[in-house]
Amino acid sequence: MAIEYRLYGIALTLLYIIYATIQFIRNKTRINNLAASFSAKPITKAAVTGRFGIWGFIDFARAAQNERLVEIQHDQYRLYGTTFEQVFLGTTLLFTIDPENIKAILATKFDDFGLGWSHSRALLRPQFNKTQIAGVNHRELYVKRLIACIPQDGTTFDIQDLFFRFTLDSATKFFFGQSTESLLSVNEPNKDLAAKQKTDMSFADAFKESQDYLAARFRAQKLYWLIDTPGSRRANKIVHRFVDSCIQRAVDQQKFEASISDESTTPDHTFLGELMKVTSDHKIIHDQLLNVLLAGRDTTASLLSWTFYLLARDVRVWTKLRNEVIDAFGTADKPKADVSIEAQPDKQPSKIKILRLYPPVPSNVRTAVKDTVLPKGGGPDGQSPLFVPKGRDVVYMVWTLHRREDIWGPDAALFRPERWAESTPKFWTYLPFNGGPRICLGQQYALSEASYAIVRLLQHFVSLQPADQNIGDPDKHAALTMAHARGVFVKVSPTKSRDD
Ligand code: HEM
Repeated sequence: MAIEYRLYGIALTLLYIIYATIQFIRNKTRINNLAASFSAKPITKAAVTGRFGIWGFIDFARAAQNERLVEIQHDQYRLYGTTFEQVFLGTTLLFTIDPENIKAILATKFDDFGLGWSHSRALLRPQFNKTQIAGVNHRELYVKRLIACIPQDGTTFDIQDLFFRFTLDSATKFFFGQSTESLLSVNEPNKDLAAKQKTDMSFADAFKESQDYLAARFRAQKLYWLIDTPGSRRANKIVHRFVDSCIQRAVDQQKFEASISDESTTPDHTFLGELMKVTSDHKIIHDQLLNVLLAGRDTTASLLSWTFYLLARDVRVWTKLRNEVIDAFGTADKPKADVSIEAQPDKQPSKIKILRLYPPVPSNVRTAVKDTVLPKGGGPDGQSPLFVPKGRDVVYMVWTLHRREDIWGPDAALFRPERWAESTPKFWTYLPFNGGPRICLGQQYALSEASYAIVRLLQHFVSLQPADQNIGDPDKHAALTMAHARGVFVKVSPTKSRDD
């Protein structure tokens, strides 16, 4: 009996291998024929990842666990060139860092890669325009709270943790009308408040866990359904519950305002409130709120964290930037001008362009919704048009694009803000906010919020030092966005006589 089962097993395995091989050959022939009919050539560069891409998947899963996902992807471009294919658990993905291909995916051939999105953007864009001002009004409050959390006695602290709290508090206030107030719990001895914050922080943790879960599902491709744990389900529940409670609160507020119809009071404009004026569909509102929170919170925190990571290691740039800030705005004790970054765009410290070396969205993906062609990557030299079959996922890695030595020079990996004064990058070589019709809607909001926080911190602190100068290349946690895996530990000295 046992032998019969074993024979059945062997026969089934053999049949499956024969079936998979025939499918593979048929698919290859179909693609070659189609490529010829599109006057394009198939790709010849492929990453070596073992049968069905099992080793490729294991390598990526291991790199994700070791917080080296960005590096492993970057190294692959060194090995295989600017456009290549890779199989993950039987699914083929196309990878590119060719500016011409990225331009085609995001702009000139946008319709071949984007479906079912324009409704969401049409819904979001006007609400952004209406509520940007409200976001600006809240800024100072959250910056004050951020500064209050910073040890003034030279003690080491994790500034990234504070930035993630800062952007969570300000984003939830801006989008939902109800802030998580997570900065308050850092120094708050009050027991009741601490208990309240415990629930709020669990939202922050749950939000992070949910994002990791989504990223792991993406890596598993067709086997995404295997990635499902009680922990991730619990995290999703906490996130959804918080968003629902904000929507309920806004509905109650709307009813209350309608019932008093007092024209002397001006309602507080929130993103959620504006969204509710154009749709009453709870699911749409819920999904869009999560969409914008996801887009806006971690990205800005990542920008701020990498900025302070680099400034702490570069006294020259720190001093130069601080002198510029103090000349324009004065110190915290003796302010010269209102830190209204909107009014003085040339004074934005975000000019130093941290986003080149550390783009918060290091890689991105689009799926071909029809058979199409990209300008480069086909044929043995990769210079011919490349056929892309319908259904193919195309991954473009902004991180590596921003570090290409043939574009940025031999010192591409160096933080050297002066390079921006020496030459302007060509279009489609600098894409932290994406490009084309789906360019980031919150770009100005993000840059002015980050600049505001940077200016206020530079006004307050005369020096910034890393807790450990020799940590080497830091581990990076890359899920949907990228941040330091182990925090950014620094120490600061408050402003003293130099500026008085
Ligand atoms: C430094 C900070 C930020 C960076 C680097 C960044 C980057 C990006 C990128 C790369 C995309 C394209 C995603 C895709 O299409 O796959 C995007 C989209 C988007 N971003 Fe940002 N973002 C930042 C901050 C913000 C902020 C603060 C907000 C909101 C206030 C925001 C709102 C959005 C929205 C709504 C989209 C979706 C646009 C669409 O699908 O049409 N972003 N962002």
